[in-house]
Amino acid sequence: MENKQKIIHDIMLLAPVIPVVVVEEVGHAVKLAKALVAGGLPAIEVTLRTPVALEALKAIAEEVEGAFAGAGTVVTPAQIKQVEEAGAKFMVSPGVSENLLDAADDSPLPLLPGTATASEVMRLGERGYGHMKFFPGSLAGGAPYLKALSGPLPDYRFCPTGGVSLANAGEYLGLQNVLCVGGSWVAPKNLVEARDWDGITKIAREAAGLK
Ligand code: 3PG
Repeated sequence: MENKQKIIHDIMLLAPVIPVVVVEEVGHAVKLAKALVAGGLPAIEVTLRTPVALEALKAIAEEVEGAFAGAGTVVTPAQIKQVEEAGAKFMVSPGVSENLLDAADDSPLPLLPGTATASEVMRLGERGYGHMKFFPGSLAGGAPYLKALSGPLPDYRFCPTGGVSLANAGEYLGLQNVLCVGGSWVAPKNLVEARDWDGITKIAREAAGLK
């Protein structure tokens, strides 16, 4: 577990933003990932929300040099096996269940589990987790809420996701308990559909420049 926590810690420090991508067409996957990596965002969360998600994850893992492709929206033990086979380097979940945590214990891949309350953080801490996704970040209370958690629970590190944008990412990134943020704003649907890969690289570069 300690080793997996070190791996996820290092992945969270690769860049200030982990893009959350929803791939609708498998033919977009490699180009989208290359555009994000070119903009300075190597860790990419491919959400398991579309029929082609696993195929997209595999293509990015195999073909995009410099990318750290992870699987997002991992909610069942069966999906853990699938994303291992697809070549994911990490997994992200919106929340946790005991079954999911048991399966994650048996997986070589690190999991960034979703949490939104002090009790959830403490439960995950008991299971060996020090790094978590804070979801849905803005609706769960945003940066002031996360700052409040750092008082009684100073040793946990978070990646807020959900409602994060260029406008509010800096507020989160200024907190002592935030290592990076996650968001879909860096891969907007309209630009992906238009295959505007340069446009995506430009947005990624802005995000990569956040402190
Ligand atoms: C997630 O899956 O983490 C969120 O749905 C991403 O949230 P966003 O679209 O508000 O960035």
